[in-house]
Amino acid sequence: MTQVSMTVNGKSVSGEVEGRTLLVNFLRDQLSLTGTHVGCDTGQCGACMVHVDGEAVKSCNMLALEADGAEVATIEGQANEDGSLNTIQQAFQDHHGLQCGFCTPGMVMSAAALLKDNPKPTEAEIRHHLEGNICRCTGYHNIVKAIMAASGQDVSAIAAE
Ligand code: FES
Ligand code: FES
Repeated sequence: MTQVSMTVNGKSVSGEVEGRTLLVNFLRDQLSLTGTHVGCDTGQCGACMVHVDGEAVKSCNMLALEADGAEVATIEGQANEDGSLNTIQQAFQDHHGLQCGFCTPGMVMSAAALLKDNPKPTEAEIRHHLEGNICRCTGYHNIVKAIMAASGQDVSAIAAE
């Protein structure tokens, strides 16, 4: 076992991990941050998306030890300081982007990474960005709408799927 330390949602944390321990398992099992989900075991679904040093990362594709010393952000740290939903979370609620809910934390973290780099993305850019986040239930329409709304843009022209 090896000691690992990182900052998660602004708090310093540490633990003992095996070399093979994935970041997602460290977050879920040792830190009880179970909002980061595991939806596959092949690195495809994006349900495990977190931010590591400001970049969106699939936490099932990263070893906990690789995040040693990093700044990690998870869905649990996304709300405003007073506990209210942040702009992206509120937009998901307003535009019914939650749907199944299981993939939603990853969708929100992915959206946050997109809007940080591209504050006014086009519909095509949003759809392209979500390629790493799989919705297996309903489709991307409301999710795209929510991200468009979170960026302060008109959602009326979003194409139906
Ligand atoms: S659980 Fe990480 S991509 Fe599916
Ligand atoms: S919204 Fe989660 S799988 Fe479709």
